[in-house]
Amino acid sequence: MKVVTCIAPVNIAVIKYWGKSDEDLIIPINDSLSGTLSMDTMCAKTTIIASPELQENIFWLNGKEQSFDNKRLANCLQEVKQIADKSLPHLNWKLSIKSENNFPTAAGLASSAAGYACMVTALAKLYEIKGDVSYIARMGSGSACRSMYGGWVLWCKGSSSDGKDSIAKQIAPAAHWPEMRVIVLVVNDEKKKYSSTDAMKRSVQTSELLKHRANHVVPKMVKACIEAIKKKDFETFAEITMKESNSFHAICQDTYPPCVYLNDTSHTIIAAVHAYNEFKSANKVAYTFDAGPNAVLYLLESSVDEFISVINYVLPPMDNNGDYYKGLPVSPSQLSQKLKMALNASIQKPGGLKYIIHTKIGEGPKLLSEPQEHLL
Ligand code: ADP
Ligand code: DP6
Repeated sequence: MKVVTCIAPVNIAVIKYWGKSDEDLIIPINDSLSGTLSMDTMCAKTTIIASPELQENIFWLNGKEQSFDNKRLANCLQEVKQIADKSLPHLNWKLSIKSENNFPTAAGLASSAAGYACMVTALAKLYEIKGDVSYIARMGSGSACRSMYGGWVLWCKGSSSDGKDSIAKQIAPAAHWPEMRVIVLVVNDEKKKYSSTDAMKRSVQTSELLKHRANHVVPKMVKACIEAIKKKDFETFAEITMKESNSFHAICQDTYPPCVYLNDTSHTIIAAVHAYNEFKSANKVAYTFDAGPNAVLYLLESSVDEFISVINYVLPPMDNNGDYYKGLPVSPSQLSQKLKMALNASIQKPGGLKYIIHTKIGEGPKLLSEPQEHLL
């Protein structure tokens, strides 16, 4: 019997992937760029057992048995086996796969990215594969390929029709910008209204604007954002991140019928970020939204406590919400009257946010080798 356990991180794109040129292989129409989040706060964990005793393949996700008859899972498994050494005795043994996320699944918090990165890392370890397998994680869920590396990661769309050069590359390690923090404002952690997979397909079919975005807007933004990250130029990084999120949601709006992901709470957050940056006469906080209403904020450590206070002012938490802050500690402070005035906000009723996750940029997937760490 062989047992392998891995953990893998979530990543949040600052330049979004939206649209495929090949639905089956999951080849994107544009490059994308993301920060990998620390696994101390959010991660997927997967244990794979290969055994000659197993009669059939089984897959459990968060304690519930899933069908193994899943095209994406089958594609990943087939591709890993194809490059594995054919003389491995366990190559044809059946598998028992167990996976768990320590954060909500299918709720717009990138569980598919962490989940498939974890699964492919564990499969690659099981079948003793060396080298980059981000192109295989990509076949599970596109954004998963970026979770195969820590720090700041570029997914190059590639040009080959078999997708072999549609891979992720680290552009800077987590330690490059240690002051960077990430705050996830969880507006809703229930199952998404419409999946990214279906919505981006509809965008490709119906949005003329998407072609302009993919061919003209994204290439410039990717180049400028990599430069800003390399120089640790937060002002530019923040501007690109916010403009890019807005550009992506404009595409969603241009899709027919439109896919509307942002809600009133999301718009309250956007307004608060712009008012705060204006008050500070500099970009101190950047927002970005994936296919859902939850905001992800990139900001430097020095701005965290004050901006959490801004959020608590415009979106007050419910009383007695003991589990409101998750992850790294936060110490919200009193806001000055001047800042309150500058926010010029319509204060929402308590409970607009479910909880707040405070985390930072972290490392890529990791193998866990202690027996007590297996999910069995
Ligand atoms: P999210 O916004 O969380 O990424 P999606 O709807 O895009 O939501 O993807 C959720 C799907 O990703 C799940 O239904 C499942 O198929 C897959 N997934 C999530 N977590 C894991 C995991 N840990 N292991 C394997 N697959 C996973
Ligand atoms: C808005 O990777 O979930 O989060 O490849 O169909 O599984 P599939 O889609 P997925 O889409 C992610 C879209 C996004 C942007 C991003 O993460 O780049």
